[in-house]
Amino acid sequence: MRDSYGREINYLRVSITDRCNLRCRYCMPEEGIKKIDHYDILSLEEIARLIKIASSLGIRKVRLTGGEPLIRKNIVQMVSDIAGLSGIDDLALTTNGILFPDMAEELKQAGLNRVNFSMDTMVGEKFKYITRGGNLEKVSGAVFQALELGMEPVKINTVVIKGFNDSEILDFAALAYKYPLHIRFIEFMPIGDLLFWNQEKLMSVDEIKKKIEQEYELYEGSKIEGNGPAKYYHMQGGMGTIGFISPMSNHFCGSCNRIRMTADGSLRGCLYENAEVNLKSALLSGASDQDLKNLFIKTIINKAPRHQMNSGWGSENERKMYQIGG
Ligand code: 5AD
Ligand code: SF4
Repeated sequence: MRDSYGREINYLRVSITDRCNLRCRYCMPEEGIKKIDHYDILSLEEIARLIKIASSLGIRKVRLTGGEPLIRKNIVQMVSDIAGLSGIDDLALTTNGILFPDMAEELKQAGLNRVNFSMDTMVGEKFKYITRGGNLEKVSGAVFQALELGMEPVKINTVVIKGFNDSEILDFAALAYKYPLHIRFIEFMPIGDLLFWNQEKLMSVDEIKKKIEQEYELYEGSKIEGNGPAKYYHMQGGMGTIGFISPMSNHFCGSCNRIRMTADGSLRGCLYENAEVNLKSALLSGASDQDLKNLFIKTIINKAPRHQMNSGWGSENERKMYQIGG
């Protein structure tokens, strides 16, 4: 279905939990978060039902996010249920990778097509610092396991934070040169745990790209599946690609194809806009498939033309990244 600005909406991001087994400094406070009651979280059956309804409106691609999606009980069953829906032809997951090695084969068998891993540094101690305790080896093991299982394209999301990991930009580029990995550098956004964000830590995609071009020749080549807002480049002689996601310096709203569902059952047209439609209360009051479909239509029709993040985000009432799913 098209929204009011002619954009074809075919991608649904589903946050299946707001909880996480890490505490990245830019995302969550150390003590964790006020948990949503289990009662308020959408059940497996509800999620499958809602995705099926969304598919009747032209949603073809689903990504499961969190928090950390792999900590949700019965995730393998959920993947299998969603993969089995006839309208869905691409099912992906964004994970921090910690639990992936134990579940990778089951997930693949259940029908998971692709995985994005979040990895901001390749130095063990720095990884421990930024995630407040995470084990980098687990994540790098997970990345190579996904490659071995053929879950291509395997992508790595790297949030660039000046003074923390900008010194590793060329190391990440080297990784994409050597392996068929797709590294996506993301501009650091002022959402999440705002105590950690400041303007000086923001490095623009232009700066990141310039740094890489000191060593590598980048060129625009064939498309990488599901690369949405990323502007991606191949490297002369390299195996993988480099992607740039620039929500801050150059918004990509004009080609946005997505809507989002939160773990407690709200639909959002945009990550950065607070407008939501409440599916959970509709479900609780016995809504029919048609009623629910109407709520999806409402969300798509009201989807904002672009975000206003540069003019401020951050009052306490707004949802955080782990509640919306990045
Ligand atoms: N700025 C940029 N990226 C962020 N992510 C989480 N918080 C931020 C932020 N403030 C990233 C995560 C993950 C993806 C879903 O979003 O690192 O890779
Ligand atoms: Fe967890 Fe991802 Fe937030 Fe890190 S960024 S705390 S891995 S949800």
